[in-house]
Amino acid sequence: PLKYAIRDLIPYAEQVERRGEKVIRLNIGDPLKFDFDTPKHIREALCRAVNDRWNFYSASEGDAELRAAIAEKERKFNGVDISPDHVIVTAGVSEAINFVSAAFIDPGDEALIPGPSYAPYVNFIQAYNGRIVYYRTVEENGWQPDLDDLRSKITDKTRFILIINPNNPTGAIYSENTVRKILDIAAEHNLIVVSDEIYDRITYGEAEFKSTAAIARDVPVIGLNGFSKVYLMTGWRLGYIYVRDPTGKYADAIIGHLNKLARARLSACTPVMRAGIAALRGPQEHVHDMVARLRERRDYCCRRIEEIPGMSVVKPKGAFYLFPKIDIKGKFDSDREFALKLLDEEKVLVVHGSGFGFGGENHFRSIFLPPISVLEEAFNRIERFCRKYLA
Ligand SMILES: Cc1ncc(COP(=O)(O)O)c(C=O)c1O
Repeated sequence: PLKYAIRDLIPYAEQVERRGEKVIRLNIGDPLKFDFDTPKHIREALCRAVNDRWNFYSASEGDAELRAAIAEKERKFNGVDISPDHVIVTAGVSEAINFVSAAFIDPGDEALIPGPSYAPYVNFIQAYNGRIVYYRTVEENGWQPDLDDLRSKITDKTRFILIINPNNPTGAIYSENTVRKILDIAAEHNLIVVSDEIYDRITYGEAEFKSTAAIARDVPVIGLNGFSKVYLMTGWRLGYIYVRDPTGKYADAIIGHLNKLARARLSACTPVMRAGIAALRGPQEHVHDMVARLRERRDYCCRRIEEIPGMSVVKPKGAFYLFPKIDIKGKFDSDREFALKLLDEEKVLVVHGSGFGFGGENHFRSIFLPPISVLEEAFNRIERFCRKYLA
């Protein structure tokens, strides 16, 4: 059965709303639901594409000009040297996760993923009858991976190691050294590394993000990235997969396999791909503006959490999520019960941490996307709730 924690509690929120009460929704990572908008030049490019009749099925691997622009972008911002031939355009990173799972997972195969993890990886891997194996990430160490744990969990069934960097739900950024060590472990065991970098440019300056494919020397890396967050295009569904293989041995085979999956679903959305070119090659100022506003919101939330009894948080270094720890022992049976009761009593919707798998227990995830006035009201309610139950 497929479970998706991020949307799991929404029916309960709708129930509360049917009672005529307004819920503050802090569950979904969509900046466009708040005061962020798709930059004008990107919106105009989409309208222009439609009016210029870019309305046909495209090549399955994606618009050739967009694939070239993606290769340029990866080189310019992430130092990743890839050929446009090794890029496939997808309907969001979500579809890329499906492709990677379909391509590498046969029944009984294992995928080594961080715990906690962005939930769709679990859904898709299990949909192909794969087995999820979590490696530990350590909250006390800024949610960095426990490399010994990771190494100990490799078996002859392991098909890939997943890195989500910057991380959802923890906001961690992995250091270059840590990524290199993961790559070294992968090399020892002849494994590929899958690296989800959808938050690559949403970082707050305390830790440097470095792309996995820019670090790899002897391991094939499958990079996943997209336009939803950095280019504020969530509803347009645009993302991509690339393969960078410094060994030179596997890239064509992997791309060939992924292309078969791409052909089966015809193509990504043609006019949106044209807008993607404008996003990558046009002005980039909005990124700086977005990050500055998000940094202020993050700092505000972290200050509020410091004052709440029974709650603590590792300050996120990237992305736009908080993953606070809650001391619910003896007060709630589970973090899900905490989230449900918070919704019922204070009309604030967060995602229970256990929905993100191993290591997520006794936590919850909140976005920090809303304007401070909304966050202030949300944290007033959260604080009142915690003073009542966790103090
Ligand atoms: C780590 C991560 N990967 C992938 C996605 C999916 O993004 P897309 O909108 O490109 O499908 C998200 C969205 O929240 C995410 O947080």
